Order: sequence, then structure tokens, then C-alpha cells
Amino acid sequence: MLPSLDIDKFAHNDRKEASPKKHRPMNYVKSKQRVADHGEVFTPAWMVEAMLDLVKDETERIDARFLEPACGSGNFLVQILRRKLAAVELKYGKSEFERRHYALLALMCIYGIELLPDNIAECRANVLDILAGYLKLDEADELYRAGFYVLSQNLVHGDALTMRTDDNQPISFAEWGYLGKGKFQRRDFRLDTLTLSADFSAEGSLFADVGRHEIFKPTKNYPPLTMRQLAALGDPPQEAA
Ligand SMILES: C[S@@+](CC[C@H](N)C(=O)[O-])C[C@H]1O[C@@H](n2cnc3c(N)ncnc32)[C@H](O)[C@@H]1O
Repeated sequence: MLPSLDIDKFAHNDRKEASPKKHRPMNYVKSKQRVADHGEVFTPAWMVEAMLDLVKDETERIDARFLEPACGSGNFLVQILRRKLAAVELKYGKSEFERRHYALLALMCIYGIELLPDNIAECRANVLDILAGYLKLDEADELYRAGFYVLSQNLVHGDALTMRTDDNQPISFAEWGYLGKGKFQRRDFRLDTLTLSADFSAEGSLFADVGRHEIFKPTKNYPPLTMRQLAALGDPPQEAA
């Protein structure tokens, strides 16, 4: 556990919301129709904090991976990133190079799926805003652009039940790792294959000894990537002269 972590220091949100007694009115629903159609009711900040405190140590670990399968506009993911960035500051705050790279790693460990296009767009923007606020990035910064690309991969517009994207492809997630010296590693895994691991891991289950290697086999391996290369991947294609 981290000592006296000041997770508010990097917050854009009004912290008053985090108190059950004092929270200011917030729009928990966008419309009655969306509640009826999609069960869209957003979680208040104080409840998010209380729930994250149940796994406090993990939320304060930079490389602990979190997947929110119905992430809405990111109420949970934003707070998880804030906690991780506080951990980055404590561990790497003295080196600008390490601080930037570990902040990107923190972002890389946040995953979400959301059905509705406006929500996933808001979610990506809200999460990126936390990174930008912490490191005081503008949109031209390589790290901002790399973060934009990572979130386009990690926060998926799709259906968590069918495990397919909005354009009907199987959902895949990138497993990111930091190799040090400015290089990141990426391997992709299909969500439907990964979720089978629960069956395989059950002690004494029919599948207990079968096919583990299949589950942990990536669908794609990438060569090590720098922040600059990640940033370029997110840039709009250049028009031919
Ligand atoms: C109860 S809201 C929670 C949003 C957010 N997690 C929060 O706590 O503020 C549920 C969200 O799940 C989305 N959703 C509903 N069905 C889904 C599905 N099959 N796959 C992915 N997202 C879904 C809705 O659009 C909505 O944004």
C-alpha cells in the first residue's frame, strides 16, 4: 500500500462529489429512454471511490490491469487512472523521462468496452484529460498523441455480451508492457478466448489441464514501440501531395 497518497492533487473533478453527504447534484441519467434501453445510470463519484477502495492496493499499482465492460463515460476508469498517476508521481516524480513513460504505462493498463458511441467518445476524452492534466500536455505533445492512440485501442466501442466491436469484429485487447529505456511491448489477445481462462483454471474442472497454452497465445505480436511510434500510429493519415 502507498503511504498517504494524494490522489486529489491531479484531479480535475470537484472532490466534494466524493463525499456521500456533500456530493453535488450530478446527472446520473441522460434520458429515461436510455435507462430503459441500455440500463444507463452513471455511478456517483463517492460510490466509485468506495468501490475502488475495496481493491485499493491494485488501484495504486501502476501496471495492474483494469477492464470495465460497461464503462459509460469512464467514471471508474478516470478515478483508477488518477490513483495510478499518484503512484507514478511518488515513484518516478523526480525523473521527467520515467514519469512520462510510466504515466503512459498506467494509461495502457486501463481497458473499457461501451455500447453507445457518445459514451465511448466521452470516456476516451475524459481519461485522456486526466493524463494531460497530470503532465500538463497539449495536443501536439508526443505523449498526448501516444495516449490518444492507446485509448483508441484500449477503450472499445462494442458489445461486452457478444464480445464484438460495433463493426462486428471479435474484440481484441492489447497487452502492453514497458521494457524500459523508452520501449513498449504489445501483444494482442481475443477477449472471447481470454474469458475461457476461467473454465480452464477451475480446479478439477473438465478443462483444468487442457489448452492453457492456447489461451495465452497472442493473436498478434508487435516489435518494441517507442512513444514517438505510438504517437504516429494515432495521427490522421497524410494526404498525398
Ligand atoms: C449502468 S451504466 C454504468 C456506466 C459506468 N460504468 C458508470 O458506472 O458510471 C451502464 C453502461 O453500460 C453500457 N452498456 C449497456 N449494455 C452494454 C453492452 N452489452 N456492452 C457494453 N456496454 C453496455 C450502457 O450504454 C451504459 O453506458
